[in-house]
Amino acid sequence: MEINKIYHADVMRFLEALQDNSIDLAVVDPPYNLNKGDWDSFKTEQEYFDFTFQWLSLLIKKLKINGSLYLFNTAYNSAIILDFLKDKDLIYKNWITWYKKDGFSATKKKYVNTQETILFYTRSNNHIFNYDDIRLPYSSTDRIAHAVKKGILKNGKRWFPNPNGKLCNDVWEITSQRHKEKVNGKVQTLSHPTVKPYEMIERIIKASSNENDLVLDLFSGSGMTSIVCKNLNRKFIGCELNEAYILNLEGLGFEIGRL
Ligand SMILES: C[S@@+](CC[C@H](N)C(=O)[O-])C[C@H]1O[C@@H](n2cnc3c(N)ncnc32)[C@H](O)[C@@H]1O
Repeated sequence: MEINKIYHADVMRFLEALQDNSIDLAVVDPPYNLNKGDWDSFKTEQEYFDFTFQWLSLLIKKLKINGSLYLFNTAYNSAIILDFLKDKDLIYKNWITWYKKDGFSATKKKYVNTQETILFYTRSNNHIFNYDDIRLPYSSTDRIAHAVKKGILKNGKRWFPNPNGKLCNDVWEITSQRHKEKVNGKVQTLSHPTVKPYEMIERIIKASSNENDLVLDLFSGSGMTSIVCKNLNRKFIGCELNEAYILNLEGLGFEIGRL
């Protein structure tokens, strides 16, 4: 299979053709079974998880031994997936909560859902993690201003803040792409109903890969992961089944592979 292409193919057929131990980082944003499109509806929950566990089982062996996997989903589905992955050849690292900040439904019979989950796994403890490339601004500016001058005494040692900010934590406050691309305050219909925010994909790719590494963009959709890869000098390989999304990707200049 050729790199820097998005394949017009079903996920199972694509993964069967992909070489084992070839992927440095997999960024996987699958159907959630929420009816966001005809590709996102399943007859029963059982059918959804049969599909999910089938591609997940094929995916694991595609990762290199120092490779990483980020898996998006709802909190409910992620809990079931986490249980499935417990005895698989992967090391659990984080349950990342994406706090979406904008555009929530007005539920009045339960708490408003404002989050998605990103499960972070690696195949070994010898994985890449570029923590310095994803530092965040410190929140308590007064305390930090004081610490920059004099340091803060911590366990008998003087601690000085890192000029590039604090280490990245596991709750990510990132505005959804739909709300970022507002025109005159109005949310626009994007070319795909579930585009992931550029900033979030950028963080994942910077943290868990180096330049020229190969990133797997399974379920490419709008191609956001592959777009970020191009901008950060990473190689990519993706797959997408929907004809209309493939046409959009072609329009964006992506080479489309066929199996
Ligand atoms: C949640 S969306 C991915 C969105 C993407 N992360 C983005 O930022 O645009 C999931 C995508 O998986 C595709 N898909 C669903 N079932 C598939 C299958 N069996 N094989 C390949 N792609 C599939 C859908 O067409 C949809 O575009």
